[in-house]
Amino acid sequence: METVKCIKERRSVRKFDASKEISKELIDSVIDTARFAPSWKNTQVTRYTVLTGEAKDKLADCTNLWAKNGDIMRGAPMVVALSIVDKRSGYERDGSPSTPLGDGWQMFDAGIACQSFCLAAFDAGLSTVIMGLYDDNAADVIGIPEGQILTALIAVGFAAEAPEAPKRKELSDLVTYKS
Ligand SMILES: Cc1cc2nc3c(=O)[nH]c(=O)nc-3n(C[C@H](O)[C@H](O)[C@H](O)COP(=O)(O)O)c2cc1C
Repeated sequence: METVKCIKERRSVRKFDASKEISKELIDSVIDTARFAPSWKNTQVTRYTVLTGEAKDKLADCTNLWAKNGDIMRGAPMVVALSIVDKRSGYERDGSPSTPLGDGWQMFDAGIACQSFCLAAFDAGLSTVIMGLYDDNAADVIGIPEGQILTALIAVGFAAEAPEAPKRKELSDLVTYKS
């Protein structure tokens, strides 16, 4: 798919075709693309935990902060949990922060990886929604290893809705030119 089309036409989808499973080959191909996302000093701190079946539904049942996200997960064939290895991106080898932004860079990397994943999924015919509203115990429920931070949950599946693009701000609201 053409890059601009992929960026502009990807939508957050919250209803999926329950009859269509995602093969391991397909999700592997998406993650294989997402792993080419840039990262701080190529630290590649993002990890992907692929949840289906009982593991996914258990997470959905523990999502009470915003119950709608639990419903989205239950209706999706797959949820991918993105986590990051803590305190590598944005840090020196001795553990000191490389810049005053401290642990901000690791979330920056997590965001790039997340968008790369969503675009790669869209290119592969899948739809996604990033979910930032989940409960404090989500990492434990999923079993995210010690030393990693859960940064996002992504419901993945074949779309059963075609939402309109939410309105975007105008370029003039966003851009400042200086010369
Ligand atoms: C960091 C982040 C967290 C989000 N969390 C949620 C969420 O918890 N639940 C949800 O339904 N959508 C969530 N979204 C999706 C946004 O609502 C959506 O991206 C936005 O409305 C723009 O729509 P679009 O993705 O179709 O362009 C999140 C998006 C981002 C980037």
